Amino acid sequence: MNLQENYNLQKKNTFGLRLFAKYFCEVFSITELKKVLEQFKGEKILLLGSGSNILFTKNFDGLVLQFNQKGIYKIEEDRDSVLLEVFAGELWDDFVSYCVGNNFYGVENLSLIPGTVGAAPIQNIGAYGQEVKDTFFALNGIYLTDSSEKTFIKHDCNFGYRTTIFKNELKNKFIITSVLFRLQKNFELNTHYGSIEQELKSIGKKNPTLADIRNIVIKIRNDKLPDPKVLGNSGSFFKNPEIEKNHYAKLKAGFPSLKGFPTSEDTIKIPAGWLIEQCGWKGKRTGNVGVHEHQALVLVNYGKADGNEVLQLSQKIKEDVYQKFEIQLEEEVNIV
Ligand code: EPU
Repeated sequence: MNLQENYNLQKKNTFGLRLFAKYFCEVFSITELKKVLEQFKGEKILLLGSGSNILFTKNFDGLVLQFNQKGIYKIEEDRDSVLLEVFAGELWDDFVSYCVGNNFYGVENLSLIPGTVGAAPIQNIGAYGQEVKDTFFALNGIYLTDSSEKTFIKHDCNFGYRTTIFKNELKNKFIITSVLFRLQKNFELNTHYGSIEQELKSIGKKNPTLADIRNIVIKIRNDKLPDPKVLGNSGSFFKNPEIEKNHYAKLKAGFPSLKGFPTSEDTIKIPAGWLIEQCGWKGKRTGNVGVHEHQALVLVNYGKADGNEVLQLSQKIKEDVYQKFEIQLEEEVNIV
C-alpha cells in the first residue's frame, strides 16, 4: 500500500493536467484494498484506472484510489475456447498482446487502447468492430460502502455503446478487481471495419493473421490518434450520437456526405468527428487547448491547459454542433 498526501495527479491523467488530490493511494491486493476502504469510510473516494478517460476540472478533496493488482490466469480451457481471469491493474494492451501471442481471438481489434483491464468494461471500450462485451464473461469486485464482494455476470452489467451499470448506477460505488474473458482458439477475425479493410487492401494481405490485425490496428491508431505522452488527451471526448431516422433523412438532404450506421429500426448512429469537423473545429487551437488535426473527436492539451479550458472548448463545440445540426453531443470522458 502506498498512501500519500497532497498528491500531484499530473502523471495520473492522460490529459496531463496538474491538479492535486488530498490523498492518493495505490493498492496491490484485495486485502490492502479492504484496509484502505475501512480507513476512509465515509470520505469522498474517486476510483482511478490509468486516468485515460477522465477530465479533472478541480483538485480532489478526498482519496483518489488505484487498484493495481496484475496477473493473467487460465481458469478453464477446452478445444474451442479459453477462460481467463485478468486482474484489474493489468494494462489493457498488455492483455491484448498476451492474447495475440497465445493465438486467442477476440480482443485484437482493441489493440493499443490506453487504460487498464479493470477500467475496460466500465464503458465497454470498443474499436474497429469489436467491443469488450463480445468476449466479456464476468467480473469480480468490491462495494465501497461495506467492502462486500460481488461477481457480475455479463447479463447483469447492462452493456451498451460506451456504457454499463458501472458507469451509471454503480459509478464510484463498486471497484472492479478482476475481469473474466472467454477467448476463441479457432481462427475468427473481424476485418469488416472500413479502415481495416482499406489497410489490408493497401498492403495486399488477403489472409491476415491475428498478429497482422494487431499490427494494422496499431498503425491506424498511431496515424490518427495523438500519443498522450506527447500531447495530452483522453481519446474520444464525445460519444457518437444516435438520432432518429427522420432527423437523419433531413440532415442527409442538406449534407450528402453525412454517413450513418443503423443501430435499430428507428435510430442511426452518426460520427461525432464528422459533425465537429463540419463546424470547422478540426485542427483548431484556442490558447492551451485544441481539436486534434487528424481526428476531430479528440481534444488536446498543448501542455499548460487547466481542466476548465478543455471543458470550455468542449462546451463551445457542443453549442456549434447543436446550432448546425440540432444534435446534442454527450461526453464520453468522465468530468470530475
Ligand atoms: N470522421 C470525420 N472527421 C473526423 C473523424 C471522423 O469525418 O475528424 C468520420 C469519418 O467519416 C469516419 C467516421 O467518422 O468514416 C468514423 O471515424 P473513425 O473510424 O475514426 O471512428 P470514430 O467513430 O470517430 C470510434 C471510437 C474510437 C475508436 C474508433 C475506431 C467512439 C466515441 N469512438 O471513433 O474510440 O477508436 O471508432 O473504431 O465511439 C475512444 O473511445 O476513445 C476511441 C478512440
